[in-house]
Amino acid sequence: MAKLIDGKLISAQIRAEIKEETASFLKEKGYLPGLAVVIVGEDPASQVYVRNKKRACEEVGFYSEVHELPASTTQEELNALVDSLNANAKIHGILVQLPLPKHLDETEVLLRIDPAKDVDAFHPYNVGKIMIGDYDFLPCTPAGVMALLERSNIDPAGKKCVVIGRSNIVGKPMAMLLLHANGTVTVCHSRTRDLAAVCREADILVVAIGRADFVGADMVKEGAVVIDVGMNRRADGKLTGDVDFAAVEPIASAITPVPGGVGPMTITMLLKNTLTAARK
Ligand code: GUN
Repeated sequence: MAKLIDGKLISAQIRAEIKEETASFLKEKGYLPGLAVVIVGEDPASQVYVRNKKRACEEVGFYSEVHELPASTTQEELNALVDSLNANAKIHGILVQLPLPKHLDETEVLLRIDPAKDVDAFHPYNVGKIMIGDYDFLPCTPAGVMALLERSNIDPAGKKCVVIGRSNIVGKPMAMLLLHANGTVTVCHSRTRDLAAVCREADILVVAIGRADFVGADMVKEGAVVIDVGMNRRADGKLTGDVDFAAVEPIASAITPVPGGVGPMTITMLLKNTLTAARK
């Protein structure tokens, strides 16, 4: 029986801490940390994420703005909005919800966000800072995984850590953070040979590939810690992760559920980054 790593509980604890810190920040500075979220078009999943981000801001007492732009928005219009948010003293964090409609250039927008307000940590300046281990912001999902490990007293130091997935948003920064925490890190991807054997070496296995129930019992060592970053919808409409929870849970020493594992941590880390940005 694995210990369940309860992301909902840990997330609630951290949000309560942020709420307290926000109250003392207001007392000290006379203003609130402010987050601007920009959404272009009507992607239903993005709309849910943005709503949750706004609600989370309200919960901890931040100032927040949501800018909902039509799908027909031009690059110039979006750039102009980012410029005005960069110059807005009430706004300390800017998040442009991805994906953007196809006619818009994501890279151009991400480069335009002031790195000091880049609470997603997607700007190449902040990506570079993460690489050298001198960072103000961490991308929210990998930061959430690290916070889950830390608050579960799981120390990556000296351990074999395997990350499945090499995206810029999760896999690559995840590997860097585990490395900074003195883990011995392997990054696997679609071209990895004998993936199951590599994964079976892992003391800590982080899975971020976006394929429902991909990791089965044959890929997990007895006693491993298994972190599931996946969020997939099954044919029956149910949410499921990248890990076959029922098969892996009896083998692992600790495991995150989906939902209620990494998911709730992501927005919590966004709040944390916004507070950091406001302090700077
Ligand atoms: N779309 C899905 N996840 C994210 C995220 O973490 N940040 C942004 N900006 N867009 C996303």
